[in-house]
Amino acid sequence: MNWWETEFLAVKDNMLWIAGQSAESLAGRYGTPLYVYGKERILERYARLDDVLARHSPLPAHICFAMKANPHRGILRLLQRRGAWIDAVSPCEVETALKAGFPAERILFTGTSVSRADLRRVFAIDGLAVNIDAAEQLDLMSEVRRAEFPAKSIRVFVRWNPGIGRGFNAGIITAGKKSSDGTPVKFGVEDKKVIGVFARARRLGFHPVGLHQHLGSGWVREDFGMVQTAVDRLVRKAREVEKAGFPLEFLDFGGGFGPRYLKNRSVFPLEDYVAYLSAAVAGAGLSVKALAIEPGKYMVGDAGVLLLGVEYVKESYGKIFACVDGGTFNTVPRPAIYLQAHHEIVNASRIDGQAKARITVAGNLCETGDIFGRERSMPLPISGDVLAVLCAGAYCRSMASNFNLREIPREVLI
Ligand SMILES: Cc1ncc(COP(=O)(O)O)c(C=O)c1O
Repeated sequence: MNWWETEFLAVKDNMLWIAGQSAESLAGRYGTPLYVYGKERILERYARLDDVLARHSPLPAHICFAMKANPHRGILRLLQRRGAWIDAVSPCEVETALKAGFPAERILFTGTSVSRADLRRVFAIDGLAVNIDAAEQLDLMSEVRRAEFPAKSIRVFVRWNPGIGRGFNAGIITAGKKSSDGTPVKFGVEDKKVIGVFARARRLGFHPVGLHQHLGSGWVREDFGMVQTAVDRLVRKAREVEKAGFPLEFLDFGGGFGPRYLKNRSVFPLEDYVAYLSAAVAGAGLSVKALAIEPGKYMVGDAGVLLLGVEYVKESYGKIFACVDGGTFNTVPRPAIYLQAHHEIVNASRIDGQAKARITVAGNLCETGDIFGRERSMPLPISGDVLAVLCAGAYCRSMASNFNLREIPREVLI
């Protein structure tokens, strides 16, 4: 068993229980495939982070939920009521956050390849801050502002690329010159251009208030050293920016930490990280008034599961396939996109007991790669069993497609 029981997931009567309800009863009530999210788990994550920040941070610290991880309206409202801020990456995310009750002043729009149309939509919202991803983006911003919002004071951050990045696989390393597979990294302003962007932003009538970085996603313990180096770089850069005449209000360290997807995988030392960045800021003599971090996965990843119904079990060329009623691309696309992404799969109807079999969990899409898990050890499923794909709270529903014109599953927040 490469997973563990939490207040969200438990084993009772040899079956999986989710937030106090059996997976089978949830599947029976709402049908499968089904995403199930746990309110208490999400609130516990938020409270833990809030507590760690309160104990270490020398300044007020904003938890900006990276809503791309899961923009479910109920989750947004839950976090909004707790005082969270929002990291939004598209105009539609911004508008969704506003509808969920977030005031614009608590939203940072961090776009990439932004269009004039994007800018028109976000500039129309009073109080929103806009993160600049490129010197060249500033030209577009200026053009749109001059034409349509000439009198408007718009707060801006600069997203810099500190020259190093860190993430669990190549597709989710978002800083540095190249990702681990050689892909050039498209995000952020290169080191030597940062001061120039601050200066130009001010000259063009924007109000620069923050410096931001985001290194990547899915950090584990082994990433801590590199992350510390990047924290030092951000603080050093902030000092340089301030010395150049641009006092900062916000220093934003991005997201990237946790959760643990597998029991045998190391855990990123969150408290040590917060203590480290807090000490770095405290000793830097900056005029910064608040810190920000942007957790996505940490906040919701292990607070969600996907339930799948087994239609039939097929044997072919010596392999056993549990054929389920959902497809990876429509539900949990991460393993199909990132080779290293792994989601534990549990036979929720019979956790333990009879001899385990090596089961390949196959989805209902016309695609060879539509496999939830290869040769996973679990009690042999039978038709009607419910399988649970764990850690499906982040970047699953939000990345799901309608491939094969299959529906995206229903979501329940319990
Ligand atoms: C700018 C930014 N901030 C925060 C995040 C959240 O990262 P994570 O979910 O790993 O915490 C992302 C994810 O890609 C991001 O691009």
